Amino acid sequence: MSAPIRHFLGLKGVEESTVREILTLAARYKAERKSISWRPLAGQTWALIFSKSSTRTRVSFEVGIRELGGNPLFLNANDLQLGRGEPIRDTARVLGRMVHGAVIRTFAQSDVEEFARYAQIPTINALTDDEHPCQIIADIQTIEEKLGPITGKKIAFIGDCACNVARSWIYAAEILKFQLVLAGPDGYLSDITNPFVTQTHDVKEAARDADVLYTDVWVSMGLEAEKAERAAAFAGYQINHALVALAKKHAIVQHCLPAYRDQEISADILEERAQEIFDQAENRLHAQKGILHWLSEPPVQ
Ligand code: CP
Ligand code: NVA
Repeated sequence: MSAPIRHFLGLKGVEESTVREILTLAARYKAERKSISWRPLAGQTWALIFSKSSTRTRVSFEVGIRELGGNPLFLNANDLQLGRGEPIRDTARVLGRMVHGAVIRTFAQSDVEEFARYAQIPTINALTDDEHPCQIIADIQTIEEKLGPITGKKIAFIGDCACNVARSWIYAAEILKFQLVLAGPDGYLSDITNPFVTQTHDVKEAARDADVLYTDVWVSMGLEAEKAERAAAFAGYQINHALVALAKKHAIVQHCLPAYRDQEISADILEERAQEIFDQAENRLHAQKGILHWLSEPPVQ
């Protein structure tokens, strides 16, 4: 019997050992970028199927796949017959016969899950409306590099607590057992929780004694029509000097990017904390390589 195919579709329900294996691989790939001889994707072609814009995720996967010996094939979903109504399951069954893995950025989580089921090739969620799991792996890598083990730390998420990045953080808190406090306005808290998560409307409560202050855009991709109402609702939910002053002395500021200055983060904090924020962006590359490598090693039955 052949080994089951591995996917990385979200952090929901993922084992701690899986996250640790990926983080260990990511750290090796970072430390030994120039010398490492592992080529787990040698001879493989991986499709990147994107229905939403991307800078970091696209570039880190394209470069990462190449550095692991494979060939990336970028496909704008609108250029595929998918954009003219061909069902996901048919697209998946075609690509599954031609390429060795898929990295998908789209809207519905169920579309990534359906693709994985029908393509029968390792499939990665590169952001859906529900989750952004690859981002959170890179974030944890960055936080642990700078502050040591995340277990027991206080992470404050400021902004849209119902967005994909916040959801993946909520799942991560339960996996790695750290304290996650999310602060957002009425109507923008998450509908999911667990014993490691607190939600509040009070940004100060979230920031007080935090080890990490984290934010994401107020308007996620696909929600552009809500821009004006969100700008009004999120006023005050910003990482700025006043908020940083409440956090622990050694606290770091993280932003998944792209950043909108003087909305979710003040322009001065973004520049003052650029080193740690762009280290976080760089880690997208190393983290993707950890994820790709982990997927290429199917479990022994
Ligand atoms: N953080 C992130 O996923 O960035 P991109 O949208 O540029 O890929
Ligand atoms: N929540 C944001 C993340 C961007 C990387 C979005 O979905 O647009």
